[in-house]
Amino acid sequence: MGKDVIIACDFNSKAEVLNFLDKFTERKPYVKIGMELFYAEGPAIVKEIKARGHKIFLDLKLHDIPNTVKKSMAVLSGLDVDMTNLHASGTVRMMEAALEGLTRPDGTRPLLIAVTQLTSTDQESMENDLLIHEPIAEVVMHYAHNAKVAGLDGVVCSPLEAGKVHDRCGEKFITVTPGVRFADGDIGDQKRVMTPAEAKKIGSDYIVVGRPITAAADPVAAYNRCVAEFVD
Ligand code: C5P
Repeated sequence: MGKDVIIACDFNSKAEVLNFLDKFTERKPYVKIGMELFYAEGPAIVKEIKARGHKIFLDLKLHDIPNTVKKSMAVLSGLDVDMTNLHASGTVRMMEAALEGLTRPDGTRPLLIAVTQLTSTDQESMENDLLIHEPIAEVVMHYAHNAKVAGLDGVVCSPLEAGKVHDRCGEKFITVTPGVRFADGDIGDQKRVMTPAEAKKIGSDYIVVGRPITAAADPVAAYNRCVAEFVD
């Protein structure tokens, strides 16, 4: 599995995202499109960015009954994205249905990864709101294992968890890790961060980097620095 840097394009309009991507005249970055941009601009923005030569991680985090997720995944697969995701809490059956929906008639499909517990959920809210009483680290690993059992390709996780996920689910099970910051950068609202070089050392397969690139004075230089630290 080739390591890559995915830029979180957390913009809410086509004009902003295309203006940002126009800066990249050499290497075309792998782009993450999230709910904000997708709901603002619809499937057309996915097609447009794809046509410009970028790989796309469509981060819509599906979670519904298996039949609905299966049919929705078939639609996303038709958009020719390279990676998409869902919530592992939707159960193994939902994840299996998602994979079925995602698989094209010729047998190819985008990578499918699972969100375990959101990093915004802590032990207290998990126990009080969700009535889950196991330690959160075990819940995360159990959900990752469920994703593996369902046949998914990997999980989104903190770079701090990537090593443990690989121990539990195998080296080929992909870890996609946000929470990346440069050693000399501003960490913003992220709590537990790692540099691209540390994420590489710990075994992340893809890093998702937003503001350290999108808000940089020179986004192309910031992206190239991530690639140099993480990929090269
Ligand atoms: O700007 P920043 O580098 O913090 O952006 C990280 C991206 O990864 C955002 O799109 C954010 O929603 C996403 N993400 C995250 N933490 C998670 C899951 C996703 O930061 N646990």
